[in-house]
Amino acid sequence: MRPNVDAAVVHRENRRFHDEVEAEIYDQRMGIDHGAAATRRMIAELEEVLGESLPRGGTAVDVGAGTGHVAVKLARSIRFGSVIAADISRRMLERAAQSAVVNGCGIEAVETDMAQLPFGDASVDLVVGCAVLHHLPDPASFMREVCRVLKPGAPCIFIGEPTPGGDRIVGVLQSPLFAARGVYRRIITGRPASERQAGQIDVHTFSLSDVDELTSGFERVRVLPQGFLEPVIDSGYLALVRELLAWLPGAMTIARALRRCCRRIDAAVLNRVLPPSWLMSMKFSARRPLE
Ligand SMILES: C[S@@+](CC[C@H](N)C(=O)[O-])C[C@H]1O[C@@H](n2cnc3c(N)ncnc32)[C@H](O)[C@@H]1O
Repeated sequence: MRPNVDAAVVHRENRRFHDEVEAEIYDQRMGIDHGAAATRRMIAELEEVLGESLPRGGTAVDVGAGTGHVAVKLARSIRFGSVIAADISRRMLERAAQSAVVNGCGIEAVETDMAQLPFGDASVDLVVGCAVLHHLPDPASFMREVCRVLKPGAPCIFIGEPTPGGDRIVGVLQSPLFAARGVYRRIITGRPASERQAGQIDVHTFSLSDVDELTSGFERVRVLPQGFLEPVIDSGYLALVRELLAWLPGAMTIARALRRCCRRIDAAVLNRVLPPSWLMSMKFSARRPLE
């Protein structure tokens, strides 16, 4: 984790980038779908990280919910009385609300900066977050907020956070592709290669000792670094297909099949044999102590 981050700049850039750039293209670029199989996969992934079944009933909050990748699936799974999608970007939340309607389920969208969660003490049964902690200026103080809002004994689950080693390896493998993507994107769309302000939007990576720091004050912590081939191929190469070549007949079907294939190779082989520091995605769960 990086110390001394300028919180005002990071918040401003995250809101701007997600409102003005990501909301429009995020679901297509990330290949987000809320079908029954994708919903089952998401629940299975969260339960693998938690090490047991998700709780049932009460309130689940998806922090940094974006366009609802997790929140809509939690709502579709009909496990909770209410599912809240919290995010700093109004336009991302509008997309999440639309996806919930299209998928026949309900979520409550709450526009907020996660530095302070607008929920009462001990009021939430589950907090989940996907690909979000690395955007926060001070993830450790955010985790104290998570602990405050969770009921005693209730869990939080975080997935999709970059590790330092994985981030470097994946960055090197992706860099030729990103250069080509930038040129192609500029030619096809006339937009700049990237609208990301490096270091102001993606702020942190997380080592195992960082997770220790984040979960201090919690109990029953489980940490599972995972993912190599899927992040390299998917967020580099297949994201290009989804963003810019979706019009090619069969392109999306091939992209989906390749992604499934990479995920299976990761699960069957690479997650087991590669050193944890090479794996790209830091996942962990923890519980508020019972007191
Ligand atoms: C990479 S997206 C992930 C979205 C979603 N969780 C997913 O898995 O697709 C990160 C999200 O975090 C949100 N975000 C960034 N900083 C935030 C903050 N300080 N408070 C609330 N949301 C924030 C962004 O607006 C964006 O929607």
